[in-house]
Amino acid sequence: MATNNYIPRETIDEIQSLNSIVDVISECGVSLRQAGRNYQALCPFHEEKTPSFSVSPEKQIFYCFGCQTGGNVISFLQKHEGKTFMEAVEWLAERANIALPTRDAKSTARQKLINDLSELNKFAVKYYHELLRTGQHSQQAREYLKNRGLLSQTTHLFQLGYAKSQRRDLVKAATHEGWKVQQLVDAGLIKNEDKGPQDRFWNRILFPIYNAQGVPVGFGGRSLSDEHQPKYLNSPTTVLYDKSRVLFNLDKARQSISKKQSAILVEGYMDVLMLYQHGIENVIAASGTSLSEEHAALLKRYTPEVVIVFDGDASGLQAAQRGLHRLIAEEIRVRIALMPKGDDPDSYVKQNGADAFNELIDKAINLIEFQIQSAIQQTNIRRPDVKTQVVKDVSAILVNIKNRVERTEYVKYAVKELDVDEDLLWRELRDLGLKDTSFQNKITKQKTASKKLSSREQIEFQLIQTLIQAPELISEVKSLLYYEELTNPHFAKIVQMLWDGSENEENVDIQNILNTCEDETGKSIISNALINKTNIPNHHARIKGCLKKLKSFNLQDVEQRIRSSALADGNDDLETLKELVDLSNERRAFVQKNILESAEISQQSDEETDNPQINGNIEKEN
Ligand code: UTP
Ligand code: MN
Repeated sequence: MATNNYIPRETIDEIQSLNSIVDVISECGVSLRQAGRNYQALCPFHEEKTPSFSVSPEKQIFYCFGCQTGGNVISFLQKHEGKTFMEAVEWLAERANIALPTRDAKSTARQKLINDLSELNKFAVKYYHELLRTGQHSQQAREYLKNRGLLSQTTHLFQLGYAKSQRRDLVKAATHEGWKVQQLVDAGLIKNEDKGPQDRFWNRILFPIYNAQGVPVGFGGRSLSDEHQPKYLNSPTTVLYDKSRVLFNLDKARQSISKKQSAILVEGYMDVLMLYQHGIENVIAASGTSLSEEHAALLKRYTPEVVIVFDGDASGLQAAQRGLHRLIAEEIRVRIALMPKGDDPDSYVKQNGADAFNELIDKAINLIEFQIQSAIQQTNIRRPDVKTQVVKDVSAILVNIKNRVERTEYVKYAVKELDVDEDLLWRELRDLGLKDTSFQNKITKQKTASKKLSSREQIEFQLIQTLIQAPELISEVKSLLYYEELTNPHFAKIVQMLWDGSENEENVDIQNILNTCEDETGKSIISNALINKTNIPNHHARIKGCLKKLKSFNLQDVEQRIRSSALADGNDDLETLKELVDLSNERRAFVQKNILESAEISQQSDEETDNPQINGNIEKEN
C-alpha cells in the first residue's frame, strides 16, 4: 500500500480533482498536443520518435503505448519527478492551494528539522562553492580541478566547493548567519567534541551530494594531498543523509536514466563528473558503499537495467561485496563493463572520448554470464571437489534470479558451460530454497513464450477492462467471481483490489485503486483499460459473456485435472469415469443453454482487438 499516514482519502480525491493532469504534465516539461479527446506527446519515459504517450483529461490518467507506463497525476509525479507518494500529494496540494491537515506534533517537529537542515546544507553548498570560485586561498584547489580536466561549467553545475585549512571556518560563517552549533552538528558539517566546535571538512574539495529531488543532503570531500587521509571523507549519517538510500547524481541523471532505460553505475565522484561532462548523463555512484536494498528499489523506479563499470585494476569481481545481488533480486538486469587495466571511467573517457566509452558500455556482458564465466575460470575445474564447489557457487548466483523464464535460461547456460547434469543443478537450487521445479519451469516457459495472452487470459482482460470502465457493476460481479479464479497473477491482483475497493462503498474509486496499487504492471493495465476506450455498447452483456466463458474454462480445467490425474494413477475405475462423464455433460449443457447469447457476445468480443502492448508487458514481467 502506498504510504498515506495522515491525509484522508477525500482530501486526496479533492487534491487530484483540483489538479488537471494535462496541466501538471505540461508543467513538468512534456509538450502535449491535443488529439481528439486525448492529448499526446513524445514519451518522457522512453526514447521515441513518434508520440505514443497519451493523456486523458476525462479519465485523469496517462498511458504510454510504447513502454506501457501508466497511472494518474500522482504516479506521474512519482515517476517523472522522483517524488514519493506523500511528496507528490503535498506538492499537488500546494499547487491547488489546499491546506493539508496538520500532522501530529512529532512528525511536525521532524519535518521542521528536515527543512532546517536542508536550508543549512544549501547554505553550506553555496558558501563552499563561493570559496572555491573566488577565495584567495583556493588557488591550489582551482588548479587541482583544472589539472584534472574539469571545466568550470561542470564545477558550477555540480556546485563543487572548497573547505579551507582552518578548522573553524564554517563554524564562524554559519553561526554569523544565525545557525546554531547544534544544527551544524545535526547536519554533520561540524564536530563538537573536546576541542569545541570544529569543521568536519578542511582542506578538501567538496562534492555536494543531492537526494533524488535535488536537495543537498551531504558532502563527499577529497583531500588535496596523499598525506591527508582518508582520501575521501563523507558526511556521517544524519536525519537527511543515509548513504544506503542516496545515489550520487541521481537528481541530474534520472531523466536520462528513464529515457535510456539504463543507468551506468561507477565508483567515484570524479568518474560521474567526467562522464557527465562528456555528455554521458545517465551515470550515478554509491558513495563508497556497496549497493543496498534501498538503492536497488530506488533504481528500479527508473530503469530495468544497470550497467556497472569495474575499474581495470579491481581485484576480482567482488559482486557480492558490492551488493549486486540486490539488483538481481529487484529484477534489474545487470551488465558489467570492464575498463582496461589501470583505467577508471574518469581517466578512460578523458583519454578516449565519449564514443569509446559508450562502446565499452554497449559491449558490457550480463552479470550472471560474467559470474558463471568467472567461476569456471578456476583452475582444476576437472577435479571433482573443485567442480562441486563451482556448481555450488553458480547455484548461489542462479537462486537469486526471480524471473523464472530467465532463471531457466541461465540454468541451461550454466549446464552447458559447466558440463553438469541439469537435474543436478535444479536439485542444488531446490536445496538452496528455490520453490519450483524444472518441470514447473518448463510449463511457465511454454506459457509465457507464446507472444499472446492465452485465450482464457484474454477473457480475463476483457472482464477487467469492462469493470474498470463500468465500476458501478463491480459489486454485482463480485458475488459471482472469486478473484483467485483469474489465472493471470496481475489480473487477479487487480480484481482483488476492485473487490476490496467495493467493500465499503457503492462505487469503486478507480483513482484510489491507482493510488494504492504498487505493482507497475497493474497500474499499466488499469491505465490501458481506461484510455483504450473501445466502445463497449453494453457493459452488462459484455460482463455476462466473460463470466460465462470463464465458467466454461473452469469446468474444462476440472475435467482436465481429473482426466490427467486418472491417467497418471493408471486409474480407470468406474467412479472416476462417471465423474468425467458427468462433468462433460454439465459443460455441454451449460454451453448449449447459453449458446444463443454466447454466440452474440463472443462475436462482439472477438472483433475487438486487445491491445497487443499489454500482452507484451505481461509477458516481460512474468
Ligand atoms: P577511488 O580511490 O577509486 O578514487 O575511490 P577515485 O574516485 O578514482 O578518486 P580520484 O580519481 O583519485 O579523485 C572510489 C570512491 O570510493 C569512495 C569515494 O566515493 C570514491 O569516489 N572512497 C574512496 C571513500 O569513500 N573513501 C576513501 O577513502 C576512498
Ligand atoms: Mn579516479
